[in-house]
Amino acid sequence: ILEEKEISQAVIGRLPRYFRYLGELKDEGVERISSQDLSELMKVTASQIRQDLNNFGGFGQQGYGYNVEYLYHEIGKILGLDRQHNFIIIGAGNLGRALGNYINFEKRGFIFRGMFDENPALIGSRIRGVKVMPMNEIEHFIRENDIDIAVLAIPKSGAVAVAEKLVRTGIHAIWNFAHVDLNVPEGIQVENVHLSDSLMKLSYNIRKAAPNGE
Ligand code: NAI
Repeated sequence: ILEEKEISQAVIGRLPRYFRYLGELKDEGVERISSQDLSELMKVTASQIRQDLNNFGGFGQQGYGYNVEYLYHEIGKILGLDRQHNFIIIGAGNLGRALGNYINFEKRGFIFRGMFDENPALIGSRIRGVKVMPMNEIEHFIRENDIDIAVLAIPKSGAVAVAEKLVRTGIHAIWNFAHVDLNVPEGIQVENVHLSDSLMKLSYNIRKAAPNGE
């Protein structure tokens, strides 16, 4: 990777979409694409694409466009997808199980290693072969299994305490689905996911499209 300058979170937020489109083009056997064609495909302006990719020194060549395979791999490297990430899920309820059952995370190098829950009735059950373990084993498990990411799929009532516990284990990142803001020390990455935010945006757009409630 070229010398990295501070890249805005807005750009980082768009990279996965570039990565997805380029992956599809690569699978279709496309070798290169002009920023114009990529722009039409992704419905993003060509200048936005050039600006975004220029953050990394720019991968395009005048009159050639982008080399799909190369760009795909470089964006993958920038996103840290050239290495494996081991993750655990805390909360073996509906959401935790749905996430655990989703097999495509593995394709991107996110490997589901363990599941934890406080409910004794769930301990020992399995999701895709991965065992549900009691909470008191979590610290040991994280240390022994090189876990970088903990997925929090528990109600907000317990989330803050569990996050504090995770911080003590030296976890690198928390993918937080609990509806509460977590205060973690600097150096620990938190990504909050609230599906209802997306739904509310949809609601806003429905209202805007039909302001009279038709
Ligand atoms: P659920 O009730 O099916 O499962 C919750 C599981 O967490 C249960 O198995 C329970 O025993 C376990 N649990 C509760 N407190 C715990 C603790 N302190 N330590 C360890 N395990 C604990 O609920 P569901 O549907 O799976 O949702 C889980 C949470 O995720 C809910 O609080 C919900 O609000 C939230 N959620 C968030 C979404 C989002 O987009 N951010 C979407 C869906 C749910």
